[in-house]
Amino acid sequence: MEAIRRKKVKELLASEPGTEVLAKGWVRTKRGNKQVKFIALNDGSTINNIQIVASTDIFSEDLIKDITTGASLEVRGKLVESLGSGQAVEIQAEEIKVLGTCDPMRFPLQKKDTSLEYLRSVAHMRLRTNTFGAVLRIRHAMAFAIHKFFNDKGFVYLHTPLITESDAEGAGDMFQVTTLDLTKVPVHNGKVDFSKDFFGKKTSLTVSGQLEGELGATAVGEIYTFGPTFRAENSNTPRHLAEFWMIEPEMAFYDIEDNMELAEEFVKYLVQYALDHCADDLKFLNDKYDDGLLERLQSVLGIAFERVTYTRAVEILEAAVAEGKVQFEYPVHWGTDFQSEHERYLVEKYFGKPVILTDFPKDIKAFYMKQNEDGRTVRGMDVLFPKIGEIIGGSEREASLEKLEQRIDELGMSRKNLEWYIDTRRYGTVPHSGFGLGFERLLLFVTGMANIRDVIPFPRTPKNAEF
Ligand code: 4AD
Ligand code: MG
Repeated sequence: MEAIRRKKVKELLASEPGTEVLAKGWVRTKRGNKQVKFIALNDGSTINNIQIVASTDIFSEDLIKDITTGASLEVRGKLVESLGSGQAVEIQAEEIKVLGTCDPMRFPLQKKDTSLEYLRSVAHMRLRTNTFGAVLRIRHAMAFAIHKFFNDKGFVYLHTPLITESDAEGAGDMFQVTTLDLTKVPVHNGKVDFSKDFFGKKTSLTVSGQLEGELGATAVGEIYTFGPTFRAENSNTPRHLAEFWMIEPEMAFYDIEDNMELAEEFVKYLVQYALDHCADDLKFLNDKYDDGLLERLQSVLGIAFERVTYTRAVEILEAAVAEGKVQFEYPVHWGTDFQSEHERYLVEKYFGKPVILTDFPKDIKAFYMKQNEDGRTVRGMDVLFPKIGEIIGGSEREASLEKLEQRIDELGMSRKNLEWYIDTRRYGTVPHSGFGLGFERLLLFVTGMANIRDVIPFPRTPKNAEF
């Protein structure tokens, strides 16, 4: 059968009829009658299937019996114009080989229940579904587009460490990394003796590559990171993962305005890229799960995001509550960190477009943010999106050595552990800014999926680290 070159389904569907072809893939469905069987074959190259027409004159009952949903096949035949609706071409099979059978009684995707919740319980097989095929292809396209966007702008892709001793965000929700025997932890003066640990000190998985990113940006100008990030927040929400991917650009000589402009251009570029390159998959997801998806994607492209200060946003939210326009589960007043219900009210109800919030109370943000003259706010920015809330968090960084050290002290953090970071302000300090885009938050928006567990192939959440 190997004499002709195999064509992927995507290629076959775009080919002119009339040639001899070889296809390989997995059976999605089989239907038909006594004379002829119609097999929908998919190889993951596209959401669309190629139809195989198999005459029972040619193929034995035994062979046809083995062609069940999930089985893998090799098919040789003639590519012909399709008479049925739904596809331009199909394969008139001349030879079929079952590469791997798939017991219909046991195959987990044979079940009637195809809810996303059920699929999470068979996450090792769900990648074979149309839905996850679409999500994976979109995820890939977005990763590619991210590299393209920054490469075209001359940014350097900086690889920051995954194992670190620094808690970049100061939030403390880190996964410890240790080779110590936890049944016999070495103790010195009543404390764990980390000098005996692998790195000779306490280390964790990174919550952000930003601080190392700043070292890169203040050396080569503009960098971005794109890698896995780990947070041991015990939040079982549809928007949090314990292991997620983050993109963190960091730019020397950018102020907060430049930073906001880049963030807006960046997400619009990605949404446009998805519309241009993932049309079939987006249409499938739009039709199956969320018929507002395509419209929502279009809607963020043509408009300028609303820029509003935290203080003004609090006034808006307080007024909405006072006027009885909305009730929140969590109360809101100046000084509180917004919950996603507050973010979504601003985006979906009040402004009706993406919002960039700026100038937060310093006490709810990390130590590195540039302090405003008012003494109580910092030059942070969060980009809020419909249906999701925060997809980007960033800031202009505190460039003044004195102010940075003062803030580190105020927060009771250790200057000693941060000497390497503080050196950026000690030697040739420059204004600089950056932000972090949660890759899976972006994918929630682009795919229209409602749960973050459904936009990453192997989700890690509290009490769940299978495979
Ligand atoms: O707002 P965050 O915590 O900002 C930082 O980590 C900064 N160091 C970024 C920077 O300025 N370079 O996280 C950035 C983004 C959030 O806006 C959100 O999209 C995503 O990361 N994120 C998560 N995504 C999934 N699961 C989680 N547990 C997340 N925590 C944050
Ligand atoms: Mg944030």
